[in-house]
Amino acid sequence: HDEVKNLVHDDEVEELKQCLPKDYIIGDLEIVKYQGFWCFADTNMFKSILMFQRHFQARESDLIVASFPKTGTTWLKSILYSVVNRFKHPIKQSPLLTNHPHELVCRLEYDIYGDAFDYPRPHHLSELPSPRLFHTHLPYVTLPESIKVSGCRILYITRNPLDTLVSMMYFAMKPLKELVGEDVELPSIEYYFEDFCEGKPGPFFEHVIEYWKQSLEQPNKVLFLKYEELKEDPILHLKRVAEFVDMPFTEIKESEGVIEEIIEFCSINNLKELEGNKNGVINKIYDKKSYFRKGEVGDWTNHSITPVMVEKMKKLMQEKLEGTGLSF
Ligand code: A3P
Repeated sequence: HDEVKNLVHDDEVEELKQCLPKDYIIGDLEIVKYQGFWCFADTNMFKSILMFQRHFQARESDLIVASFPKTGTTWLKSILYSVVNRFKHPIKQSPLLTNHPHELVCRLEYDIYGDAFDYPRPHHLSELPSPRLFHTHLPYVTLPESIKVSGCRILYITRNPLDTLVSMMYFAMKPLKELVGEDVELPSIEYYFEDFCEGKPGPFFEHVIEYWKQSLEQPNKVLFLKYEELKEDPILHLKRVAEFVDMPFTEIKESEGVIEEIIEFCSINNLKELEGNKNGVINKIYDKKSYFRKGEVGDWTNHSITPVMVEKMKKLMQEKLEGTGLSF
């Protein structure tokens, strides 16, 4: 384990950080721009990205959920896990009944290559049975070469940016309070909005567009899903997921209602009531239950996002998405 940890030295991490553009997010959390995207400057967190980049060896059979934070990652993890393991673990005996989706589909940077103790460690990766399920929030450009060149597959999910930033604001509340103290006023939604438009965290649109382009160029390699479409027609998109991972539903199973059973099991109302998701924390700071809030499309309309802000976001979207064929 120590050998793996030392494959990237702290001195090297510090040196690299010195050369990168710096900024701050949510007040005074230092971030650095690495390969075009902002990430936390904390040495251990940044180091875990380098470790993942340099040392992860993808298997042809690996399945990797990729996403920008707060776009439906937890939902997609539970769906993918249920689809892939449906023969081994029928829903009534699913490990998701007692484990949080993030514990079953672990994040490669920060978790597996980072400091969290309760995940498989890098030296355990070769022992995991195939197909291994992983997750990353990293942009496509930053992924390890072995992910890009091997036959492993990526399932990307995205979501309306305004809903994403509202979700982010709620998610950050408790950890922020712990950091700055209960009495200190937390950043307003305008604050999150302005940062988001400036590409912090992210930039969001570049993150989405990279994966979108890959999904067009390599449809067998990258499956592109939208949170809103998954909500609107879960059966269709569950079938897409199953076909993409080469485990399509047979007509018999379909007629027995297996797809609906998975959809119901992975619904936010069901998942948020499961023991494994109600108590405890992930990565020492995030309440397990905070990953399940409302799960609605268009929740941003319930917040003080003004017409001026909406207009600004529309313009930004037009500018960024022009010519990509992608829309929200
Ligand atoms: P809201 O804060 O808008 O409710 P991520 O998993 O990427 O962190 O995203 C979290 C968002 O997905 C939260 O959105 C959360 O409530 C929602 N979510 C979690 N599980 C879900 C599920 N099973 N179905 C739909 N949405 C879900």
